[in-house]
Amino acid sequence: MSQVGVVGAGYVGLTTAACLAHLGHAVVCADLDADRVARLAKGDVPILEEGLPELVAEGLAAHRLRFVVGAAEAAKGAEFVFLCVQTPMGEDGGADLRALDDAAREIAPVLQPGAIVINKSTVPVGSTVRVDRLLREAGAVSDVGVASNPEFLREGTAVRDFLHPSRVVVGAEDTSIAVRVSELYKRVQAPIVTTDPVSAEMIKYASNAFLAMKVSFVNAIANVCEAVNADVREVVLGMGYDPRIGFEFLHPGPGWGGSCFPKDTAALLRTAAEADYDFELLRAVVSTNHDQQERIVGKVREACGGELAGAAVGVWGLTYKANTDDLRDSPAISIVQRLLDAGARVRAYDPGAGERATEMVPGLEVVPDAYAASEGADVLAVLTEWDAFRWLDFRRIAASMRRRSIVDARNLLDPAAMRHLGFDYRGVGR
Ligand code: UGA
Repeated sequence: MSQVGVVGAGYVGLTTAACLAHLGHAVVCADLDADRVARLAKGDVPILEEGLPELVAEGLAAHRLRFVVGAAEAAKGAEFVFLCVQTPMGEDGGADLRALDDAAREIAPVLQPGAIVINKSTVPVGSTVRVDRLLREAGAVSDVGVASNPEFLREGTAVRDFLHPSRVVVGAEDTSIAVRVSELYKRVQAPIVTTDPVSAEMIKYASNAFLAMKVSFVNAIANVCEAVNADVREVVLGMGYDPRIGFEFLHPGPGWGGSCFPKDTAALLRTAAEADYDFELLRAVVSTNHDQQERIVGKVREACGGELAGAAVGVWGLTYKANTDDLRDSPAISIVQRLLDAGARVRAYDPGAGERATEMVPGLEVVPDAYAASEGADVLAVLTEWDAFRWLDFRRIAASMRRRSIVDARNLLDPAAMRHLGFDYRGVGR
C-alpha cells in the first residue's frame, strides 16, 4: 500500500482521497480552506455525494485518511501526489490554471526523491508537461515523475464510478511511471489504458465532448420529433438497442450543464482553435445546447398563453441534474433567470440545493417544498429530474394552481396521467 497526497478537497479530490483510503492506501488530503479541513477532519462532508460520508468516516477511523491545510503538507513523505484543484473557465474560454500552477510550485520543494505527481484536474492538453516544468523550476529533486490520470466521475455517483470504473487512463512519458500509478488501482477491476500524457489529456476532453454531443443530438432529435409528431422516447428506445448507439446520454432535457461539460467543450474548442482547426461540429454541439434552454423558456411562455410578464411560474429543480447539490452552470438556473428577465414571478424548490440559489439569482423565491412552489402558479416547470417529484400528490397540486399547466423539461412525469388530472402537459419531444 502506498503513501498518497491529494491536493484539493472538492468533488474530485475528496472522492479520490476517500476511495484510495478505502482501497488501503494511506492518504493525506489538503485544501486551502481551513474551515473545510476542520469539518472534514470531524467527518463532516460538505458536499452531497452518495456513499462519500461513509468512506470518509471509514478512512478517518482506520487512520488511513487525514485532512490538512495546504498542498505542501499533503506532499511531504508522499510517494504519489494527486493534483485535484479547480481549473475553472477563464475569460477567453480556456481553462484557468492558476490553482494548478500554485499547487505545483508549493509542493515542489518538499517532494521526496522518486515521488510521482499526478494530474487529475481536467487540464488543457500539454498541462502534464507544464507541471513537470514548474516542478523543476520550483526546485523539485531531479527524479520526480509526472503523469496524467484523468477522472471520469459523475457527480452523484462519483464513489461508484471511482471504485467500479469503465477504465483507468494513465498517461506518462516513462512506462515505469505509468505502471507505478496503475498499481494504485490494483484492487479495482477495470481495463487500464497506459499512454502518453498528451493522449491521456485528450481522452478526457474527447470523452466529455462526445457525451455532450450525444445529449445535444438527442435534444435536436426531440425537437424534430415535436415537429413531426413522433415520440422521442420511443425513438431512443428503438435506437438504443443498437450496441453501436446504446441508451446512455440520450435523455432529452433542458440542455447539459454542470461544472464539466460547459468548461470542457469550451476548452477543447480553444485548443482546436489554437491549432488552427475549426471544430465546427463541437461549436454546433454548444450552440444547440444554448438553443435548448431558450426552447424551454418558449414552452413556458406558450403555456402562459404567450406572455411571461406577470405570470406566476413554479419551478421544481435547480441543480444541473438530480442527486447533486451543485448549481454551477445549471440549465435550470439559466432558464429561471430568463423567466425573471421576461417579467415572470418564479417560486422554486430543489431537494439538494436548499436556498443557496437565491444568492445566485436575485428576485428568485426559493421555498422549502414542492407543493409551496406550485401553489398559485400558472405554470409548473420541472427542470431537474429528481425522482421524488414523481411521487407527489398531483391532485393536491392541480387544486392549488391558478392554471393547470406543466412544462416537463425532463420528461419525468406521465403525460397521460397528467392530462387525466386536467393538466395541459408539455414534455420534450413527445
Ligand atoms: C461528466 C461526465 O459524465 C463524467 O464522466 C466526467 O468525469 C465529469 O463530467 C467531469 O468531467 O468531471 P457530470 O458533469 O457529473 O459528469 O454529469 P453528467 O451525468 O455527465 O451530466 C452532464 C449534464 O448532461 C447534466 O446537465 C445532465 O442533466 C445532462 N444530461 C446527461 C442530459 O441532459 N441527458 C442525458 O441523457 C445525460
